Amino acid sequence: MAFKILVTSQKGGVGKSTLSANLVAYLSRTMNLGVTLIDWDPHGSSSTWLNQAPDVGAVIKHLALPVDQGGNRPIFEARLQMRRAASECDILVCDLTWSDSLAGELMFEFDMVLVPTSVSEIELAATSGFLNRNRWVFDSASERRPMLVVCPTRVLNEQLNSDVFTRQRFPVSFMLAPPILESQSARDLFERGYLMDAQDIGGESFREFGEAICAAREIRMAQANQPRKPAPAKLTEQDTSRVRVPLVATRPSVLESIPNASQYSVLGRYRQRKTAENDEAIVNSRSLSQIGIPEFLKRLARGNAAKL
Ligand SMILES: Nc1ncnc2c1ncn2[C@@H]1O[C@H](COP(=O)(O)OP(=O)(O)OP(=O)(O)O)[C@@H](O)[C@H]1O
Ligand SMILES: [Mg+2]
Repeated sequence: MAFKILVTSQKGGVGKSTLSANLVAYLSRTMNLGVTLIDWDPHGSSSTWLNQAPDVGAVIKHLALPVDQGGNRPIFEARLQMRRAASECDILVCDLTWSDSLAGELMFEFDMVLVPTSVSEIELAATSGFLNRNRWVFDSASERRPMLVVCPTRVLNEQLNSDVFTRQRFPVSFMLAPPILESQSARDLFERGYLMDAQDIGGESFREFGEAICAAREIRMAQANQPRKPAPAKLTEQDTSRVRVPLVATRPSVLESIPNASQYSVLGRYRQRKTAENDEAIVNSRSLSQIGIPEFLKRLARGNAAKL
């Protein structure tokens, strides 16, 4: 079954289409997976990008969704379009500007909801409002609940030290992806190439982001493959004296390294592992800019891991 990613936010111009087109290219070319893009943006920026830039082997669809009709119509239409697209790929990426006329139920169709946001106060407030309105989806007890990944985009160097993704501001469970940095290449490459090939901070940050999304997908898939625990049978008093715990051979799985879904946890852990690996190889005297690891990610990974 295809892994379905919704790239969405209510704010315009936060980088949804840039992220969608480049994520499709990254997943298609580096992971060698069958990837399909559904571009629900009337302007068709992400589909145009992939259609004009060198072919990465992805299927590109620019489709209309009756977003403003409200009710169940957009959901039925989306389901139909997604079912057709998902039957012929491994990963489906959908680019959509969210509107309050859409019912939050639509998000249950996805494995991952990826919300790009810049770290300016005005956009953080909008993102926090959007997440809060749809909190019932992300905090639902349903097994079909999508993973919520917040992705800081267009992040400037001087913003790397800010620690703005606090629990007070975002009282909803989410994971934080490595930021995609503001770069000229992100603008210049439109319709011409892909961020994963850029030899600047934009390219470097995008590759880290792509790796983290792949790690999150692995985790979700491992969770989906975990056998469900059967409900414990009621034991009589006589039985309890004879109960034995069956010995099952355990094999290290990706889930073992992950704490129970808590805020920031998964990608935070992923970052922590990566930075720890790098730290071993790096002499202390080297500066962070030489290491190429954004300081605020290190702080997030460590700070939040400590809280887990
Ligand atoms: N990492 C980045 N660095 C610099 N500029 C960026 C970056 N990401 C996106 N941009 C620029 O920001 C603008 C908006 O990006 P994009 O079209 O991807 O956003 P969007 O959320 O899809 O917008 P819309 O809501 O209009 O569909 C574009 O001019 C794009 O080139
Ligand atoms: Mg767009």
